[in-house]
Amino acid sequence: MAAGGVAAALPLSYGMGLHPSGIEVVRARINLPFLPPAFNGLKVALLSDLHYGAVGVTAGLVEAAFERTLQARPDVICLGGDLVTGRTSGLMRDVLAMLRGVSAPLGIFAALGNHEFRWGIESSAAAEFGKSPVHLLRNETVFLKRGGARLPLIGLDNFFNQPLDTLRRLLPELESRPCLVLEHSPDFAALLSPRFNGLVLAGHTHGGQVVLPGIGRMLSASRFGLRYVAGEYPAGGGRMYITRGIGAVLVPFRVGCPPEVSILELSTDRRMQVSLPSVIPAKAGIQSASRA
Ligand SMILES: [Fe+2]
Repeated sequence: MAAGGVAAALPLSYGMGLHPSGIEVVRARINLPFLPPAFNGLKVALLSDLHYGAVGVTAGLVEAAFERTLQARPDVICLGGDLVTGRTSGLMRDVLAMLRGVSAPLGIFAALGNHEFRWGIESSAAAEFGKSPVHLLRNETVFLKRGGARLPLIGLDNFFNQPLDTLRRLLPELESRPCLVLEHSPDFAALLSPRFNGLVLAGHTHGGQVVLPGIGRMLSASRFGLRYVAGEYPAGGGRMYITRGIGAVLVPFRVGCPPEVSILELSTDRRMQVSLPSVIPAKAGIQSASRA
């Protein structure tokens, strides 16, 4: 694509080298009235699409994302896949090493994205997780515990990298009670019925990655086009949050679409109908809401 030429004439949201990052910490309150009340106010950090190993994605960018995450003091950290881009699981080892010193009271969890499958490292990468404190969830459930209550967190392999029948068999569990679902691609939400009343944590779209004034988003990774891009959406009878992610693919930069660390505060307030994200730039105070 000719994005390089176009980008040269536009202010980049962050440099061609992708760092210094200009990472935005996006805070959103997500209304989930059916959650156990003990989880009211739970702070979930969501990071996805680091793409460490892709051209231009430096260790400095990844470390900056982890640093911003830690500064937000989340209760739990979720990594939404596409953490690496490349044929060697050593990249995942490097990412996990960069996570040393990062912790959250309820733990750090991860799911695999399409890039871990595309590069054929899903098994070797899983082995690297096994040597780290990060709990990789491959169609598995863990229970977050708070105030005597339990909330299922279900991590799924990227949905278009596993048989649809496998996912369909898992749906009754997802829809039987309020839960968090960590799954890379937002297209997964189309499988959910109104019985689902939890929260899907997704990435994959990069928020469009290159967003040009008057033209719009240049990249779309959803089979539904621009139906899912970034921010909060309905999902079955629940909600979904799509983070713009951190890194870049296809072209080694972002335009008009900064990398995002998402800090989601869960609310069980039944009176709240709409929640809007607010954005905290890397070096400034709170700005008005924006959905990339
Ligand atoms: Fe990605």
